[in-house]
Amino acid sequence: MISAPQTLIIYYSRTGNTASIARQIAQIIGADVFELNTKDAFPKDMSATADVAIKQYQSGQLPELVETPTLSSYQRILIGSPVWNGKLATPIARYLQETQFSQQQVGLFCSSVGQAANVTTKGIKGTTKILPTLFLVGSVVTADQVNQWLVKDC
Ligand SMILES: Cc1cc2nc3c(=O)[nH]c(=O)nc-3n(C[C@H](O)[C@H](O)[C@H](O)COP(=O)(O)O)c2cc1C
Repeated sequence: MISAPQTLIIYYSRTGNTASIARQIAQIIGADVFELNTKDAFPKDMSATADVAIKQYQSGQLPELVETPTLSSYQRILIGSPVWNGKLATPIARYLQETQFSQQQVGLFCSSVGQAANVTTKGIKGTTKILPTLFLVGSVVTADQVNQWLVKDC
């Protein structure tokens, strides 16, 4: 039997949904987890956060991150983001912009309220393979969803 790849789950979560999904996936597949935080906090209000995120994308000034994880001992990196205005949350966009992966498989999972999203994996650098993005509504993921996503696609 081929052993499962060592997996790190990296996520950003403003209100806890993506964090919850990250913990569930970690439990299902047995993975380490790393939470990204921004140096500057986003507003408490959702629409104010949406305005900030739009400006960040427009200006290219994506938010600075406090700390990022060491990737070298992992073969697979799963990255969790809320959907913001149909795109990746800007802290995750920042992480992907500044990260050169070292021959890992990379997959994104996204939490939203279910509106159509246009999330791109273009520009992710240094991977052996990019998995199709897993879209989830709210804070719950099932073992079936995770296993289908990873077994089928790895
Ligand atoms: C600034 C902002 C923009 C959002 N835009 C969308 C969107 O375009 N589509 C959608 O379905 N949900 C949208 N949402 C809802 C979040 O994606 C959803 O609540 C998600 O589960 C939050 O994840 P979190 O709790 O990990 O932060 C938005 C939320 C925020 C704060």
